[in-house]
Amino acid sequence: MTPDLRYSDRSDASMRPSWSASPGFVNAEHRSAYNDTRDLPGWQEEGDSYKLYEMGYFAGDVILEIGVYGGRSAVVELRGALSNPARDRAPQFFGIDLDPAAIGRSYKTLLDHGLAEYALLYHGDLENFITEFFIRPTMVFVDGDHRYPGIKGDLETLSEILSPGVPVLCHDYSNPENDTGEYGVRRAATEWEEAGYAEFAGVFGCAALFVTTGRCRRPCSGLRPERFAERRLELLRRQGVVEDPVAVRIAELEARIEACETERAAATARLRELEAERVRDSAAIRNLQERVAILLTTRSALRRLAAASARRIGVYDYLKRRL
Ligand SMILES: C[S@@+](CC[C@H](N)C(=O)[O-])C[C@H]1O[C@@H](n2cnc3c(N)ncnc32)[C@H](O)[C@@H]1O
Repeated sequence: MTPDLRYSDRSDASMRPSWSASPGFVNAEHRSAYNDTRDLPGWQEEGDSYKLYEMGYFAGDVILEIGVYGGRSAVVELRGALSNPARDRAPQFFGIDLDPAAIGRSYKTLLDHGLAEYALLYHGDLENFITEFFIRPTMVFVDGDHRYPGIKGDLETLSEILSPGVPVLCHDYSNPENDTGEYGVRRAATEWEEAGYAEFAGVFGCAALFVTTGRCRRPCSGLRPERFAERRLELLRRQGVVEDPVAVRIAELEARIEACETERAAATARLRELEAERVRDSAAIRNLQERVAILLTTRSALRRLAAASARRIGVYDYLKRRL
């Protein structure tokens, strides 16, 4: 699903939705996504996590991330994707990184969060990746090589594999290192935009959102679910992250059960809190009802007293006139 809200201001980095169907936060987890993941290995500003969760929610069928490092942004994107009740099939996350240590680190993070089965982690760069995987991402997070030649090459490769209307978030677009030339994110992204491959859609945190145009022509698709599962485990073994795929699958399912149990425990605790609130509210309502009843009784007693007094005054006046 393509973002339908665009912001042309390049200095306002505030948290605003890019899909008009979003009321600001798509759900309670979106609101807490940054805090929930702040201790994971990675670098995110609050606005980055805000946008990644929203992108995952609306466009997270086939997620491509260049530069996973430790899986922090991956957790945000996948949680967003999984939280959309309208998504009719499991999201597929493809995360690539040049550093072999990043693969094991990210796998552990995803496993700990019960998300490993949705993620295929690839050791290498985008050029290599696309020779092995013919996927058409529905959203992209570009957070790999921040130097000009590196990101320039990644964006050129993306032009070959993306279809129109795909949201692409370029991290560190507004960092001051872009002014010194240490980073080339802003320069490469601007050139990509000027070449007509994407339109600027706003700055969020330190990242800039682009939406691909008709110059990117590939249709969107992921892998068949069974193929995704197969290739994911094959890569984990090939890259030395795991040895026995069956044991891995068991560990992943156990991690998922644990994550579900943690979620269930949190939901039960919240339910208890709500129940306690309900009991407190009912007691307060009963108390108010009793007070209203007392006031009504007092009011009618006073009315009766006033009527009796009026009658007495009438009798008194009458007698005074007669005597
Ligand atoms: C800033 S970190 C990514 C952080 C992660 N996205 C997050 O927010 O949690 C950058 C990562 O990109 C990787 N990297 C650098 N050059 C790359 C390239 N050309 N292709 C893929 N990954 C690359 C680095 O090894 C590093 O792990």
